Amino acid sequence: MSYKIVKYGDPVLETPAAPVTGFHTAELSELIEGMFETMYAAKGVGLAAPQVGVSQQLTVIDTSVGQDPAQKLVLINPEIIFREGRQTGEEGCLSIPGFREDVTRSAKVTVRARNAAGEAFETSGEELLARAIQHEIDHLHGILFLQHLSPLKRDMIRRKIRKMVKAGEW
Ligand code: NI
Repeated sequence: MSYKIVKYGDPVLETPAAPVTGFHTAELSELIEGMFETMYAAKGVGLAAPQVGVSQQLTVIDTSVGQDPAQKLVLINPEIIFREGRQTGEEGCLSIPGFREDVTRSAKVTVRARNAAGEAFETSGEELLARAIQHEIDHLHGILFLQHLSPLKRDMIRRKIRKMVKAGEW
């Protein structure tokens, strides 16, 4: 089942998500499957549960955009336990369509998370994967990439979006 992606302006995107407590359930499997489907349809590399209106600490990532099943990553209740270096690159968000800006993030991260069965694991990523992991974990804390921009740039984007909302184009 594909979901509707929640857009900037919906409070769920700026609300810290609750930890997942029920593992190994049909609901959780369906949510994960639906999130991958939604993300691929939108040609994204990551999608967090709040972006489909579910305020839970779950995110799916695939930097191959569906080309390599081995790249599929599900992070539940994730926590970044190691960071190294810096990278600056263009970033966008499926909840803020049409806007892309340079964001500086850690170049490499290691994350500790649980899988759908509730088993804890650790994984590391560099470059685009590191960027996706940080962007998606931000979502679980109610943080959008706009918060990493200068106040000037952030306000400019907010103003443009407000205009689009008024015009019924958002
Ligand atoms: Ni995003």
